Amino acid sequence: MSDLTLNDVHKYYGDVHAVRGVSLDVAEGAFTVLVGPSGCGKSTLLRMIAGLEEIDSGDIVIGGQVVNRLRPKDRNIAMVFQNYALYPYLTIFDNIAFGLRAHRVREPEVARRVRETAAMLGIADLLERHPRQLSGGQRQRVAIGRAIVREAGLFLFDEPLSNLDAQLRDEMRAELKRLHQDIGKTMIYVTHDQIEAMTLADRIVLLNEGRIEQEGAPLDLFERPRTRFVAGFLGSPQMNFIEATAMTDGAGTGFRIDAQNTLSLEHVPDGITDGQAVVLGIRPEHFSRDDSRPHCQPLDVVIDLVQPTGTRTHVQFPVGGRQVTAELGAHDVEPPGTRVRLMVDMRRLVLIDPATDRVIGKEGERGS
Ligand SMILES: Nc1ncnc2c1ncn2[C@@H]1O[C@H](COP(=O)(O)OP(=O)(O)O)[C@@H](O)[C@H]1O
Ligand SMILES: [Mg+2]
Repeated sequence: MSDLTLNDVHKYYGDVHAVRGVSLDVAEGAFTVLVGPSGCGKSTLLRMIAGLEEIDSGDIVIGGQVVNRLRPKDRNIAMVFQNYALYPYLTIFDNIAFGLRAHRVREPEVARRVRETAAMLGIADLLERHPRQLSGGQRQRVAIGRAIVREAGLFLFDEPLSNLDAQLRDEMRAELKRLHQDIGKTMIYVTHDQIEAMTLADRIVLLNEGRIEQEGAPLDLFERPRTRFVAGFLGSPQMNFIEATAMTDGAGTGFRIDAQNTLSLEHVPDGITDGQAVVLGIRPEHFSRDDSRPHCQPLDVVIDLVQPTGTRTHVQFPVGGRQVTAELGAHDVEPPGTRVRLMVDMRRLVLIDPATDRVIGKEGERGS
């Protein structure tokens, strides 16, 4: 069953067409992440679902009911923002209880639900304190507690972890995912961070300039991007994009990058013609030093930057007039200036038409 449906939703701020015809079905109990670069319309979309922002056209349907004209408090929604404001003069208990009391929930029930929520979030021993006596991560937990204590049907999160430092963000991310597994409620989570999107989502909705660029399961988007934008947005370090010319007959078949570099491919996909310009999308992790693997083709390059991360080492080198990054084994390190042979996994190559920025080939045909 679909818990939330958006039908061709539009939003204008004066001349700015912030949301440009978004249609979306969110399944009950799913963790959906709206992700995309800053300004692509994520917060606007979330605020329209919450009823904090009016929609200019289209429909928003929650639990089978069109809610376009319903006030926020009548939508059975709880929301957590990036800049959560706790009431400084209230205890943590009273902060979490606030929404329940506003809805005239009886005091024994308030106490039961606040304690249960606090236990779930690991803040049960902080209930008598005030916000200023809490760390940033603890405060963020209280903000989340304040939302989930309401037992709403739909939970909305707008970049709730952005103000936390990196380690805390990782911890809270795992806790949120666990929380979702435990309570199984429908959650819609907005972030600009592709790692958060990949790790949290059952379903990713990737937005670009007010439109859905592609949606699907995280690995589906990662392995079968339909556009250059999707291919480039997901993955760190980013996918490399190298301009090349297709060769489909005669002496050799494959892709010529420049005078020194050619990648051979026995069967160039249908629809690509000899001499056609293509962009080769190669993820950093699809380079290796191992020339015994099948389906790999060599590139001879001169390393000009080496960045160890501990688990893996990132090396950079110019190919076809642009900087390319490869992710190699931690100890596959050669000093800058060294000429090395790197193998490219040709099965993982993403071919992009530079005229349209769309991935070439039928959906699901390439990648793995
Ligand atoms: N209240 C507003 N008034 C005018 N423009 C706005 C307002 N809110 C958002 N915008 C514009 O709408 C677009 C989408 O904004 P937003 O939804 O906040 O993006 P995101 O959350 O993805 O960063 C941006 O171009 C932004 O400048
Ligand atoms: Mg935003």
